[in-house]
Amino acid sequence: MKTNLYTLITGASEGFGRALAIECASRKMNLILVALPDSKLHLLAETLIQKYAIDVIAIEKDLSIEENCTMLHKQVEELEIPVNMLINNVGISSTAFFGEGSIGLYQKQVKLNVLATTLLTSLFLDMLKANKPSHILNVGSLSSFFYLAKKQVYGATKSYIYSFSKSLRGELSAEGINVSVICPGGMNTNETIIKTNKANNWLARQSIMNPEEVAPIAIKGLLSRKEIIIPGRMNKLFLLIDKLLPSFLIKMIANNHVNKFKSYSIGNYPINKGVYSGVLETTN
Ligand SMILES: NC(=O)c1ccc[n+]([C@@H]2O[C@H](COP(=O)([O-])OP(=O)(O)OC[C@H]3O[C@@H](n4cnc5c(N)ncnc54)[C@H](OP(=O)(O)O)[C@@H]3O)[C@@H](O)[C@H]2O)c1
Repeated sequence: MKTNLYTLITGASEGFGRALAIECASRKMNLILVALPDSKLHLLAETLIQKYAIDVIAIEKDLSIEENCTMLHKQVEELEIPVNMLINNVGISSTAFFGEGSIGLYQKQVKLNVLATTLLTSLFLDMLKANKPSHILNVGSLSSFFYLAKKQVYGATKSYIYSFSKSLRGELSAEGINVSVICPGGMNTNETIIKTNKANNWLARQSIMNPEEVAPIAIKGLLSRKEIIIPGRMNKLFLLIDKLLPSFLIKMIANNHVNKFKSYSIGNYPINKGVYSGVLETTN
């Protein structure tokens, strides 16, 4: 159903964010898509406008920089675009022992996964209230439930997202704003992750999903005001096993599994490149 309201999606040029954008577009939702500069975002926006006859605005900003979050909000306000859905998807993962990673990588992870989500939620809150009924979807991860080796900082940022979403939901439901959190397991979103997923053992490979499968589950769950969205039967099974088995056994199995992974981080964010400057360095 076409409306004059907009859904804002962060990290929308690639991976899960892109799949969410396509899913929302197929539901005739107008979109504001945000990603890094030079990220093919405008091309995606054009394609969605042509295919679904909706309005799509592409805004290129590095959201790990605090002022850019503020500028994004200001830009949307000045354009008088009414937002009634905020999807905090942007986030970066890594798999590496703590000592292997640079402080720059950890700072970027905290800034993007935690700070950008918190800031944007705060900045857009009044607009969401003005356009209610409205929704916030925060993208967490299954790793917020398991305390895995090589996932210390990433897992902790996603535990924050989980806790933040649940508390906020309690506060905002009375104000007509629904808050949901989606906790996907592994998804085949980008080259590095696809390679790692392929190297997984048989059981773990059964849980890997494509972002195009997860996105409809996410939006359906959000619109039906689900509190926690866990996509996929295997991921639900992992959570059940976690509750049933003693924790020392879970840790042993999980860490034994993760320790076999080669260390990696995502595209623009190499593991040990010192402190990242405001403007991103290109991939090595
Ligand atoms: N993939 C998984 O297995 C998995 C599992 C559970 C949860 N998640 C979560 O799902 C979310 C999306 O992950 P993904 O795997 O789809 O990631 P991805 O493929 O690396 O895509 C990340 C998106 O964020 C954008 N982005 C990166 N840095 C940015 C910045 N500083 N400012 C603005 N935009 C930026 C990227 O733009 P560019 O194209 O310009 O780089 C891209 O559009 C994350 O929160 C992640 O933690 C992923």
